[in-house]
Amino acid sequence: MSSSNPVPNTVVQESPTHLRNGGVSVVFALDAFGAPTIVHWGSALSDADIAGLLATATPAVMNSSLDTPRSFSIAAGLAHGWSGTPAIEATIADAVIDGFTLVRVEPAGEQTRTQVQFALQDARATAEATFTYRLDDAGVLHSTVALENIAAEHPIDVAAVRSLLPLPARAAEVVDFTGRWTNEKVQQRAEILDGTWLRSSRRGRPGHDSSFVTLTGTVGFRFRAGEIWAAHLAWSGDQEMRVEHLPEGAGVHRSVLGGGELVGVGEIRLQPGDTYRTPELVSTWSDEGIDGITARFHASIRSRPGHPQTSRPLLLNTWEAVYFDHDLDTLTTLATTAAELGVERFVLDDGWFRGRRDDHAGLGDWFVDDTVWPDGLEPLSQRVHDLGLEFGLWFEPEMVNPDSDLARQHPEWLLGENPLLASRHQFVLDFARDEVVDHVIERLDDVIARARVDFVKWDHNRDLHASLDAQGRRRVHAHTLGVYRVLDEIRRRHPRLEIESCASGGGRTDLGILARTDRVWTSDCNDPIERQSIQRGTQTLLPPELLGAHVGPTVSHTTGRNASFSFRAATALFGHAGLEWDLTKASSDDRAKIAAWTALYRELRGLLHSGVTVRADEVDEGALLHGIVSHDRREGVFAWVRIDTSTTAQSPRVPIPGLDPATTYRVRVRDEIGAAHRHQVADPAWLGVGDLVVTGAVLAQGLPLPVLNPGNALLLQFTAV
Ligand code: DGJ
Repeated sequence: MSSSNPVPNTVVQESPTHLRNGGVSVVFALDAFGAPTIVHWGSALSDADIAGLLATATPAVMNSSLDTPRSFSIAAGLAHGWSGTPAIEATIADAVIDGFTLVRVEPAGEQTRTQVQFALQDARATAEATFTYRLDDAGVLHSTVALENIAAEHPIDVAAVRSLLPLPARAAEVVDFTGRWTNEKVQQRAEILDGTWLRSSRRGRPGHDSSFVTLTGTVGFRFRAGEIWAAHLAWSGDQEMRVEHLPEGAGVHRSVLGGGELVGVGEIRLQPGDTYRTPELVSTWSDEGIDGITARFHASIRSRPGHPQTSRPLLLNTWEAVYFDHDLDTLTTLATTAAELGVERFVLDDGWFRGRRDDHAGLGDWFVDDTVWPDGLEPLSQRVHDLGLEFGLWFEPEMVNPDSDLARQHPEWLLGENPLLASRHQFVLDFARDEVVDHVIERLDDVIARARVDFVKWDHNRDLHASLDAQGRRRVHAHTLGVYRVLDEIRRRHPRLEIESCASGGGRTDLGILARTDRVWTSDCNDPIERQSIQRGTQTLLPPELLGAHVGPTVSHTTGRNASFSFRAATALFGHAGLEWDLTKASSDDRAKIAAWTALYRELRGLLHSGVTVRADEVDEGALLHGIVSHDRREGVFAWVRIDTSTTAQSPRVPIPGLDPATTYRVRVRDEIGAAHRHQVADPAWLGVGDLVVTGAVLAQGLPLPVLNPGNALLLQFTAV
């Protein structure tokens, strides 16, 4: 079939909306149906480009297809010829809600530069969907949808509301993350083929296998090269992320990137006047590889009003030091030793509350166990504060052991789990119930106030599974909002309190929970070999100051591997550092190195927690090179890491990325935490003659680096002279 009749532009060229900020542009125009469509998301455009962009925004009419060109609007649905996953799936009185068209834009026209809201109504005017887009100074786009029932009667049943963004044909590969307990944020890569790359979590939390960040980009995109479009969902409950590729494309685009909350059957029913708000889809673009995406995400996250502003205190967590073996004298000695070695925050982990002698009982009973702590936690807290340290305490507020007073008194508060579905001997409390939320707030508030707690480690050690209440209703959505309510209220009552989000390590590291917390526990694995890749993956989205990173004992408790102090310490340095180790048993040699390391952390944390994350591509298999460079590029700290052996015998010039070619740097090896073990006869000559002074241009060509044995890291510091 062919036609000689020209097809008129189906993208309306009057009053487009051009958001432009931080080197990124997003351009919207109306399609032939009267719905806004994204005609561009990517590099910054000038206003002079827009007319041409719109004039070229209508694709060909295909054979054996609709008679008008395809459109992909922000409310894409079957009613307007979209054959892919719809943006909105909802019904009212059995009628499908679809055919959304624009009714309002705010702000209209020229005032629109960084934020816009499009209000659309469906063909029957039963629902109003307000799509909000905010492009921040870092070039990160924040997209949400609010779906309101505007019908006079009948509820709306919502199955899904998604934020969908267009991808050009050159976005040909997808990279996202998967993992398991103690091995989170493992990168996986696939070609984008016809069909849907769908990553879902029905775990009631993002999970250890969370897709975390979905990156789509040009073939072979890597840390320092490639054009990339990336997205993350800021939500702590069930969720889905997708990359969808249809043969007919999406308007002049090829595929779709997006996602939203994964709404369980029957979970969201809107009565007239009610509104469902999606979590924020946080997305960005860069033509400077994954490091470019990371730089935008980090800048955006650091600009949040609630982002930690103070130096991140070096902490000691008692978990791998004493586990449940709590005793005032032992812990006081541990805190005293920690203070002597430079620790600034002492965190008492699991085991302090009623009945909690192991992990079979006690969750839910947030009262200090007077068989272990006859005078409460105050004496320990007092001693810790007297030492000049902050005092932190572990809670797992959403959980309950059947063997607890709470479960015995309020069996109706448990989300009705099958006894065969106990996980770590525990179940989940229904945070959709006001009385549960109120009770948990009251208990946490009381303990925090009495024990003068400065820091809460908020744990979450199981998936939610069925999560039905007594009426058989699925509660993950309402439960997640309940969790946010408790966190918000605790923070309101204790404005200086800091909170860590832990979920058996890194099972809940999303920007929804981080809007209410101050760091994540990146992984339960303190083995530095595993930690290198876990932290590297997590850092794709989160800046190092938000990543809990601890030096554990010599023999890793989760992998059984031995690791030198210097490797453990160099690994933990690139996060919000801490120790998780019985320091009273550390040798005097280890203690001296710990003191040197805590001093090094204090010296470098200003740079480490504000600079730009840099990861080299051009390294030998089995080796990693990563660093943090200040924004003015006058300082940088890098780790040259070997996690495995390879067939390469030499480490010839390794390019040091991210520095300024025109600046001259002094290069120092920081080995006060112990020397990295070498697999060579002698170091490259420059290492033997004191500090090297060299230009960034030479460093971009590369430094010959020592050949390290696996399980070693060399710290290199670059300072402009
Ligand atoms: C799981 C956490 O990830 C650990 O760090 C520790 O807090 C335990 N829970 C305590 O039960």
